[in-house]
Amino acid sequence: MAKLFVNTEKKGAKINRNIYGHFSEHLGRCIYNGLFVGKDSPIPNVNGMRTDVVDALRKIRVPVLRWPGGCFADEYHWKDGIGPGESRKRMINTHWGGVVEDNSFGTHEFMEFCRQVGCEPYVNGNVGSGTVQEMSEWVEYMTFDGISPMAELRKQNGHADPWKLKFFGVGNENWGCGGNMRPEFYADQFRRYATYVRNYGDNKIFKIACGPNAGDYEWTDKVMAIAGKYADALTLHYYTAPYGDWKKRGCATGFNEESYYSTLRYGLKMEELVSNHLKIMRRHDPEGRVGLIVDEWGAWYDVEPGTNPGFLYQQNTMRDAMLAAVTLNIFNHHADGVVMANIAQMVNVLQAVVLTEGEKMLLTPTYHVFDLYKEHQDATLLDSWVEAHEIGVGEEKVPNLHQSASVDAAGRVHVTVANLSVSESQEIDLTAAGMEGASVSIRLLAGAMDAHNTFDAPETVKVESLTDFARRGGGVQFTLPPCSVAAVELA
Ligand code: AHR
Repeated sequence: MAKLFVNTEKKGAKINRNIYGHFSEHLGRCIYNGLFVGKDSPIPNVNGMRTDVVDALRKIRVPVLRWPGGCFADEYHWKDGIGPGESRKRMINTHWGGVVEDNSFGTHEFMEFCRQVGCEPYVNGNVGSGTVQEMSEWVEYMTFDGISPMAELRKQNGHADPWKLKFFGVGNENWGCGGNMRPEFYADQFRRYATYVRNYGDNKIFKIACGPNAGDYEWTDKVMAIAGKYADALTLHYYTAPYGDWKKRGCATGFNEESYYSTLRYGLKMEELVSNHLKIMRRHDPEGRVGLIVDEWGAWYDVEPGTNPGFLYQQNTMRDAMLAAVTLNIFNHHADGVVMANIAQMVNVLQAVVLTEGEKMLLTPTYHVFDLYKEHQDATLLDSWVEAHEIGVGEEKVPNLHQSASVDAAGRVHVTVANLSVSESQEIDLTAAGMEGASVSIRLLAGAMDAHNTFDAPETVKVESLTDFARRGGGVQFTLPPCSVAAVELA
């Protein structure tokens, strides 16, 4: 029996709901066929947005969505994606898959999608191949309410009122696909571009600077030193590949136990990355004004056999659910510094929460983790501790248990705990001081390490209620099956 303690007296920061955010890019079938099918599609839609996908995303309370990339953002010229459909430019998406981009999904469509899902838009601007004027005009187009060429253009395109836009990214991966810049050069570019990302009326923009790739601490140090005072947040990108090796990552399904544990081992590195980058950021910004945004994270495997290598389409198993569980626990633990995170990507790309095929849609194991964890959104972090031991294969070692806890505005305590073992179940004795008399409900996601949903069997992996628990000595005792995640509510 492993002890799990929650100290309801020791409260941490508020868990920003945006930690449960998502990322969508003009890549493969994320936007086209994933989110958007167009008004004339036989697939049920509202204004071109897939109804099944929108409904599924509303259920997990998606708080924020990043768009249009990714690497695509630094090649995207927003004026190509406005105005009547027939006049929009057709071009090749040279970065991803070499397919035709007809620009039928642009600014208006993105804002409409966010409206339907009920989430905040996070727009990523183009520094790599765009101009200051282009970025400045995009913000004016979206948010200016008054007499101006861009506000006029927006009105001509059918949207009289400006949109509310809070989150704006000034470039993406400018150390790589976004221009191969050095940190000093990017930091100066950020200062320049961000100057013209204006606040119009009461629309206040939260300016997001391009941060490091994984453990590139020099980037964080230099960008914070030169541009930190002009930014509201810095981004971190970290993808998980088994063995931390792009060449050995293998397929999303049909992997062995060593690969499973290796994936989680490298996923758990998020803890040290977030801690170390935050420490550097705090050296430059002792008051913690600048937040950390992990706006690309998730598992990256080989593409599904027979699919376009540029589409990054992969299946999603219980291994990915476990990766999501530990990653979200880590973000919760760093609620005082991590102000947003965006899983890559929302639909049909990398560690997607939804997969589609024609008119069919399925929810992945990762989706169900976001469902289990949604009660942490805007709740207050609680101190928690679990009695774990090391498990794994060879060098690929991980703790068997991983947890986080919070209390929401109504006083309900939420504990999420994962059993990472592929073979051993684990009895848990959960104690939350002060909640001895509380009513308990437990929701559970469990399955073999490579269990997944298919279009023919979309409910192989799904959340169930766990009713088989006991109350003894003020605690709650229950058993976590191998490879499982539970969300316990004490109310
Ligand atoms: O998510 C896929 C790609 O990964 C993004 O376009 C880029 O930012 C990152 O390298």
